[in-house]
Amino acid sequence: MQIQLETQPYSSVPADALITYIFDNQDKFEGALGDIDSAMHGRLISLVASGELTGKALELVLLHFPEGLVAQRLLLVGAGKPGKFATSDLRKIAGTALRHLKSRGAKKIAFLAREGARDPEAAQAVVEGLIAADFESDKYRTEKKNREIHSVALVGFDAGLGADLEAAIDHGRVVAESANFARDLINEPSNRLTPRILAAKAEAMARDVGLGIEILDERKIAELKMGALLGVAQGSVEPPRVIVVRYEPQNPRPGTPVLGLVGKAVTFDTGGISIKPANNMEKMKYDMGGGGTMLGVMRALAFLKPSVSVIAVIPSTENMPGGRAQKPGDVQVAMSGKTIEVINTDAEGRLILADGVTYARKLGCTHLIDAATLTGAIEVALANVHVGAFGTPREYLDRFLESTKAAGEKMWPMPIDDEYQEMIKSNIADIRNTGSGKGGGASTGAWFIKEFAEDTPWIHLDIASTCWADEGHPWLAKGPTGIAIRSIVDFALKM
Ligand code: BES
Ligand code: MN
Ligand code: ZN
Repeated sequence: MQIQLETQPYSSVPADALITYIFDNQDKFEGALGDIDSAMHGRLISLVASGELTGKALELVLLHFPEGLVAQRLLLVGAGKPGKFATSDLRKIAGTALRHLKSRGAKKIAFLAREGARDPEAAQAVVEGLIAADFESDKYRTEKKNREIHSVALVGFDAGLGADLEAAIDHGRVVAESANFARDLINEPSNRLTPRILAAKAEAMARDVGLGIEILDERKIAELKMGALLGVAQGSVEPPRVIVVRYEPQNPRPGTPVLGLVGKAVTFDTGGISIKPANNMEKMKYDMGGGGTMLGVMRALAFLKPSVSVIAVIPSTENMPGGRAQKPGDVQVAMSGKTIEVINTDAEGRLILADGVTYARKLGCTHLIDAATLTGAIEVALANVHVGAFGTPREYLDRFLESTKAAGEKMWPMPIDDEYQEMIKSNIADIRNTGSGKGGGASTGAWFIKEFAEDTPWIHLDIASTCWADEGHPWLAKGPTGIAIRSIVDFALKM
């Protein structure tokens, strides 16, 4: 899909449809929309009067052969109350419009910017929304719908900011295409994405964009004494991998932070001996979502070039039952030396992250972010609305939450008080891998990881309920969402 700035006036841009948006409850239109309405002899206002055009959030009204426009159609997207409008809403507006028009066979579309949102930031949001919305999950369908948007013209953006606008469009494209790269990985079934295949795909991506990469195989993992990862992996015939991707800035100043990104990549989670019920188990192919997220982030950073070093550490394994599988009650020695009583083999994500976090610190990471489809409990707490965001020290988490706002991704700070640490004390080992009390499952899971992050500034993102959308949205296909990538990219760039 081609996206380019268009400097012609909107009325003369040829397209299957011109998209713009209107606010809730307007009884008159100003600026470009006023002109469009006049050229149509007040038809927009009469649609408002009849109640068909209200401007409520994401309402769609499609007008054919609009007078005064070269475009064949005019698509008006509701933007809700003007007081509540933020630039990041443009993602959903542009995405909703794209999916609506794509399903109706449009090939060439144009997006008209409006007063107050014609700056580079707005252009970036529009581009991100369009590219995210264009992603489809039909890779393995032999008969494709064959509907494709070929080009989008961005019209009416601030002409005085040409170079900045081009840069913002490139930025938006890189971030959204990187998220789509991650969504592709997350969508893969586990027979087509084993730890070895994930490693090979990461390697190909890294070569492609000029990142450093190293793959640790089962021998190297054993040499490093990653006993927590090996404990999970021993139940599978597929060997584990640890994927290490590196980004180095051009002139790294000594003493600058090194950001470590640790992603859970369980390519399939049966639960192991503590086996999961059959219902919905097929979804556990996306249990590598945290790892996929971090690979998407690294791909974006290769283009956007932050001034800090970034190292992604992605432990990857299957979690399978079998004659060699670890069993409830087993004790494993993690790479850090801490001993772990494995109460439930289905709490495997924290086990592999334990060694991932230890290794990231050993490689010199001064700051950590981990992302993981870690707990069902986070869905109980936050549904599929917010990512659960844990972290210490609190100021580090707060800085990250600023980036989530800029990126328009909903995340909510979750508690990690010492009481939760009490719940993962073991009778026979240093810690146990599940909480002893009732409830607090997302927080005890987080505390388990913190046992290995220790005093390194650390953020844990539980994306179990947000990484996959069971229902599609008007602006996004069902399936992998690409959540957290924009926020982490924004954070790395501001570090
Ligand atoms: N991968 C799951 C968490 C999950 C659940 C992700 C639903 C996506 C959707 C994780 O490994 C898991 O099984 N967690 C257990 C932990 C429990 C045994 C302490 C859970 O949340 O039930
Ligand atoms: Mn599990
Ligand atoms: Zn899991």
